[in-house]
Amino acid sequence: MRENKILITGGCGFIGAKVIAQLVDEPFELFVIDNLSSGKRSAIPENRVTLKICDIRSEEAVQFVKQVVPDYVIHLAAQIDVQTSLVQQQTDADINIMGTLNMIRACQELPRFKKFVFASSAAVYGNNADLPLTEESVTIPTSPYGVSKLVGEQYLALNHSMANFPYCALRFANVYGDKLGIGKDVISNFSRLLKTKQAPAIYGNGEQTRDFIYVDDIANALIFSLHVTQNGVYNISTNEQTSINDVLHIMNDILSSNIAPEQRSARLGDIQDSRLSNEKFVTTTCWKPKHSLRTGLECFMKLNKRKEQVLVK
Ligand SMILES: NC(=O)c1ccc[n+]([C@@H]2O[C@H](COP(=O)([O-])OP(=O)(O)OC[C@H]3O[C@@H](n4cnc5c(N)ncnc54)[C@H](O)[C@@H]3O)[C@@H](O)[C@H]2O)c1
Repeated sequence: MRENKILITGGCGFIGAKVIAQLVDEPFELFVIDNLSSGKRSAIPENRVTLKICDIRSEEAVQFVKQVVPDYVIHLAAQIDVQTSLVQQQTDADINIMGTLNMIRACQELPRFKKFVFASSAAVYGNNADLPLTEESVTIPTSPYGVSKLVGEQYLALNHSMANFPYCALRFANVYGDKLGIGKDVISNFSRLLKTKQAPAIYGNGEQTRDFIYVDDIANALIFSLHVTQNGVYNISTNEQTSINDVLHIMNDILSSNIAPEQRSARLGDIQDSRLSNEKFVTTTCWKPKHSLRTGLECFMKLNKRKEQVLVK
């Protein structure tokens, strides 16, 4: 019997590399499309994965998909930075909307195509404060990035209703873990500063909350999603709210330090609280996040330490 083929766009990135790490011992043929704009070739085992270096917006990418004939596509390649999306709206839309459309087009006529999994984001909910946010909650994105993810979802829903295109879109909460480059998220930032005994900045009173999820749990959810039979949108989260003050407290505790934050005034546009209900995905798939914030942070900080030791050697 032929093995299932999985093609991962953006497979050399932070989340993609974790998905591949969880799939290497499974009986799948693995393919990656990545232009290495932020991803690293060394993030994936090239003896196990066929890597095509090209842009998801290119005809070359379409031809590669048609040549591979994947059963599944996990579409992760994207412009992921909210701040960049504010100042480069066209680039953001070009990669995230036109690139996604190009990949949908490539898959449309594949024989036996099973599923297109799209990495969406909690950014589609914008400032909606009606917590916990469910898939039915109103979407009011406050950034071009959030708009681009919502439009990607809508194109998928449309292609599903017009031509039965099989898909699911996963809206990720705040993902943390050992990012490839300099992570701009609060946890990467705290980690960098605490290691060198510097005070991390907290904007406002620090009581604003987020739903933090460890990258391995996201990777695992992406794999679970391959078997979802009901097309549509799913939140991927822990369904828990943790304040920024508590994040700092836990990280200090793990490092046995007691570094106080530098208090700064609240930033315009920052949302106060965020929590996504994961009930729909949990009941559909039996997936559950395996890491609490504390155990996820322990894994993350241990990995960081190991990387530093390798660099010193
Ligand atoms: N990390 C998060 O917190 C988070 C949260 C919500 C959603 N997401 C979504 O998850 C997906 C993966 O995010 P990530 O954190 O792994 O990002 P990442 O930047 O680490 O990975 C993205 C990968 O896509 C590649 N890429 C970018 N543009 C490309 C293009 N035009 N053509 C081909 N390859 C291209 C990059 O080289 C990189 O390897 C993205 O779609 C992102 O929007 C991430």
